[in-house]
Amino acid sequence: MDSFNNSSRPSANGPSANIGFGSPSLANLSYDPETNTASDPAARTRKPVSANNKLVMGLIGCGGMGAANMRNLMEFDDVEFAAVCDVDTARMPDDIKKIEEVYGKKPEIFHDYRKMLERKDIDAIIVGSPDHWHALNLIHACEAGKDIYCEKPISHNFVEAQAMMAAQAHFKRIVQVGTWQRSTREFHDAIEYIRAGKLGKITHCRAWIADGARLGNQQPTTPPASLDYDTWCGPAEMKPYQQNRTHFNWRYMRNTGGGLTTDWGVHMIDIALLGMSKDQDLVMPTSVTTIGGKWAFTDDDRDAADSLESIMQFPDQNFVLTWSVLRDHPKKEGHGTDFISADGRTLRVWRGGWIILDAEGKELPKESATPQDSNHWRNFLDCVKSREKPRSDLHSVGQTTTVCHLSNMALYSGKTVKFDKSKMSVVGNNGKDTLCYQRQYRKGYSLKKY
Ligand SMILES: NC(=O)c1ccc[n+]([C@@H]2O[C@H](COP(=O)([O-])OP(=O)(O)OC[C@H]3O[C@@H](n4cnc5c(N)ncnc54)[C@H](O)[C@@H]3O)[C@@H](O)[C@H]2O)c1
Repeated sequence: MDSFNNSSRPSANGPSANIGFGSPSLANLSYDPETNTASDPAARTRKPVSANNKLVMGLIGCGGMGAANMRNLMEFDDVEFAAVCDVDTARMPDDIKKIEEVYGKKPEIFHDYRKMLERKDIDAIIVGSPDHWHALNLIHACEAGKDIYCEKPISHNFVEAQAMMAAQAHFKRIVQVGTWQRSTREFHDAIEYIRAGKLGKITHCRAWIADGARLGNQQPTTPPASLDYDTWCGPAEMKPYQQNRTHFNWRYMRNTGGGLTTDWGVHMIDIALLGMSKDQDLVMPTSVTTIGGKWAFTDDDRDAADSLESIMQFPDQNFVLTWSVLRDHPKKEGHGTDFISADGRTLRVWRGGWIILDAEGKELPKESATPQDSNHWRNFLDCVKSREKPRSDLHSVGQTTTVCHLSNMALYSGKTVKFDKSKMSVVGNNGKDTLCYQRQYRKGYSLKKY
């Protein structure tokens, strides 16, 4: 469901693209494709990462998005992929072939990512595994001194998000999260417009996704020979194998994902929070209520809600945020974020554009602050070298991910969840009894809190 559906986005922004926003609030570097160097002053004093100033990288999780990230990073001359790791050998051949084509040598192939992390020459890794593996992959990579391009949402549950943020801070690692919308022109423009106060006082934000994915019904079977299903389950409960619970579909299962709220909410709620914040340190709600359920696809094996409405209160800033998972929005994109002002204007942004509407729905003039898309993957590489904070720093997207977990906690506990940002803590016990707060790790797996 959550995929790059704009073909110009993930793969086309190679070194030939001019990448770099004018605004310092979302971007801190500008990259010169001619010389393959960043043009900020800090960049000029960068220390080489590897002997030849190439970043040596490894990929954990050769699925859809892991492979897409690897290909985007391979566009840059100062990266070399040396290793790939997956627990399903059937998923690796394309990535192995691609690495051979580009670098003229085979990558080292791993089944156990911890063995890959032992390689001293690897500077950075991609975490492209399903959400239930992110926390362990990332914390172990931090311990091994690697920098990380980590897919979103940062974690499967609330407690894991906290442990990941603590590990990153403890080991001072650079972590870019895969919320690439932060690097695209339309979202940057929209956020800058709101932050500049051009829409006036915002009283309401509304984010949504139309969800129509069908998983069907299946009976448990024997896993394919290529897949180490036990390790694929990792810290999550090991349920009987079904193909429609594993690759890609794990996101619709609460054992391994958080439904569309963590899958797409982390993108669209992120934009609302960024617009309403001064910088990457995001405003967070004090109170979250969610109503919904598995009401549309009752004959389907998914167990995450397919229909819901979350209402989040931000009393310090006097606005309300609603998050919807629903079938469709006639005359609207299937996903998007609206900012609604006290005087009745709406700024709407989605993957591909942004508009301002008056109270009657008539489009109003607007101006763009951004010359063109930036490049999320280049920003990661530059920050690894400069040690500056990337555009989707783990702590910031950890805040958005936490908001998504609060929404699910409210849904599955049936209680309003109160939250205190100063302590990054749920107030009282509301929602703590849900899987979205904390999971029971399987024997052999544990979550370290630094
Ligand atoms: N940023 C985006 O726009 C975007 C889009 C799609 C997916 N994603 C995110 O990317 C991540 C992967 O999603 P996907 O759709 O590619 O999933 P996927 O199921 O297609 O791929 C995940 C891969 O990880 C492998 N894997 C599982 N456990 C592993 C382990 N312990 N070690 C090594 N490999 C392991 C699986 O075998 C599989 O090949 C998710 O976090 C998802 O939310 C982000």
